[in-house]
Amino acid sequence: MTDREHVESYETAMEIAWQFDYEMGIDKLRSLYSKSKKLQWDGEVDLDWSTEVDPAKPIIDDDRFGLSEIPFVKRLSKSQQETFRAHVGAQRLSQFLHGEQGALMTAATLTHAVPDYEGKLYAATQTMDEARHVEVFERYVRKLALVYPMSPFLRDLIDITLKSENWVKIAIGMNMIVEGLALGAFHNMRRATSCDLLRSLIEGVLRDESRHVAFGNVYVGATIADMHADDREDVAEFAYDALMMMVGATGQRKGEPPAPDPTFRLVLENCEIDPGDFLAGMREAREQGIRFDQPPGTIHAFKDLMMPALVRVGAVTERTREKFAEQGLRIYDDVSVLERLEDDETGTVEID
Ligand SMILES: [Fe+2]
Ligand SMILES: [Fe+2]
Repeated sequence: MTDREHVESYETAMEIAWQFDYEMGIDKLRSLYSKSKKLQWDGEVDLDWSTEVDPAKPIIDDDRFGLSEIPFVKRLSKSQQETFRAHVGAQRLSQFLHGEQGALMTAATLTHAVPDYEGKLYAATQTMDEARHVEVFERYVRKLALVYPMSPFLRDLIDITLKSENWVKIAIGMNMIVEGLALGAFHNMRRATSCDLLRSLIEGVLRDESRHVAFGNVYVGATIADMHADDREDVAEFAYDALMMMVGATGQRKGEPPAPDPTFRLVLENCEIDPGDFLAGMREAREQGIRFDQPPGTIHAFKDLMMPALVRVGAVTERTREKFAEQGLRIYDDVSVLERLEDDETGTVEID
């Protein structure tokens, strides 16, 4: 028995839908299901776990680590810079692990709740995909010998998704927003690390995730198109709320710093960096006009993936467009990066 001390539970009003016609009416969902069955992989045997990972060494390469540009970070000793980079890497990997557990539960919830037969079969394959993702990230994080707690921002986003009373909201919260975030973060981590094991692990995960994002598009798009206007507004309101949670956490709003993430504060504490000194260092960098330009090829999850995915399925309405505008947020509807990732069956596509 596992230690119940680590279990946190709550109850939800879960929707359960039996489906008795067993008709495969949605061709695109049927082919996603077929593809999922064929492309299952087993991280236990397909990845080389004998690869040495030194927990003291950063998994993110220096030239792909945006925070290295800050003069405050440059003034730290070489060994302190390495420790900082190693902890930031472990903090990010830990979020991948916890996020995958959330994905596992939401995919299982979709299996119960979707009203179409092929939707249930597909969601069951996604549930299995997510179980394998939890497994491989857990194994990798164990090699780093450092697990950070789940970021409360990510936890809140997944919890409001799991607590949704209908499957369309769950698919929006998970397959568009959380998985948009994950797809961007995985792709960027794959480019930022020279650890072969981590790269091949992420490539396997990315191949699966491209189907998960495509599922949201195919199924949710068709459903929203058939909805009564009031229901569509209700779904759009949920998409707006969920996206605004991301905005607060990532500092997407112009001129506002991101809300402080307690797990990042823990990174600073573990590296013996005073959070006040770090903030002063960030201010200093801003005053010097240092822009944290992301390295070329970096995906911006909010504007390249999450927002375009919502616009594409009709989850952004005239009314919520106005609400985004009131918050000073642009509507991003360019789906080119999103489509390239969705079509990627190798997990290695490069975005330039
Ligand atoms: Fe996943
Ligand atoms: Fe996924």
